[in-house]
Amino acid sequence: MHRRIERLIDGQAGWARPVGEWNQRWLMEFFGRTRPLKDMLNGVWLGHPVHPAVTDVPVGALMAGAVLDMAGLERAADIALATAVAGMAASAATGAADAVDAYGRPQVQATVHASIMGASLTACLLSLGLRATKSRALRPIAVALSLAGYAGVAAGAYVGGELTYGSGNMVDRHAWETRTAKWRALDVDDVPEGVLVRANAGSTALVLSRSGDEIVALDATCAHAGGPLDGGTVEDGCVECPWHGSRFALADGRVVRGPAVYDQPAWEIRRADGGRLEARQKPPIVA
Ligand code: FES
Repeated sequence: MHRRIERLIDGQAGWARPVGEWNQRWLMEFFGRTRPLKDMLNGVWLGHPVHPAVTDVPVGALMAGAVLDMAGLERAADIALATAVAGMAASAATGAADAVDAYGRPQVQATVHASIMGASLTACLLSLGLRATKSRALRPIAVALSLAGYAGVAAGAYVGGELTYGSGNMVDRHAWETRTAKWRALDVDDVPEGVLVRANAGSTALVLSRSGDEIVALDATCAHAGGPLDGGTVEDGCVECPWHGSRFALADGRVVRGPAVYDQPAWEIRRADGGRLEARQKPPIVA
């Protein structure tokens, strides 16, 4: 069943790819001028994507509205639907901030997801409009429209789930890393001032930077979507990812600018006996 749905979603690429790319262009321009807003919508302040939390509002409100409609509690059902519409608008804003950084298959999935949600929002807005007329004759149509909107939200949520769980969009790239306090030998001997150096600590790639006598290191794979931080730039004590511009403090890996919302694992560096550089992971930031 799931494979069939997956094929159905992938089969929308013919229209979803150009639509997604067109949306990406104007959204990039908009968010390029309003970066702090994008950070807020992504969830940099929360340390977690905001979108999945906000989407629970319309799902719950539409469910409540359907039950209230069936119970004949019209005023309460109308309030629930208005709440759902507000939640859908907030979901659209947070989803757009996340989707603007998606390319290829995830972008197609995001466009299909957003299109279904847009159709659901339209049905819910029409339902609200008909409810506002207080017409007895139009009430059944209004209820049918909000139920259609609810069904659409459920279908759109499935596609959104596929985007996250199937394609790993906005998933922390270090989620499967096991933290150990063990020192590991690096395969580089020195880090010149002013350049980012890639090194391996066992199977983990690190990016190293020198500031005077101190060498600092972070995981080289960006927490957002796996970009190579060693190909990035250093500014104001932060390394900036070359893919979507997330910034992490070199001192402790704290995320300073999105779209990444998770901190970057940070490493301690020492020079061991014999002159070799060694690294061990620092504990995660707790505050
Ligand atoms: S991969 Fe997206 S900001 Fe690094």
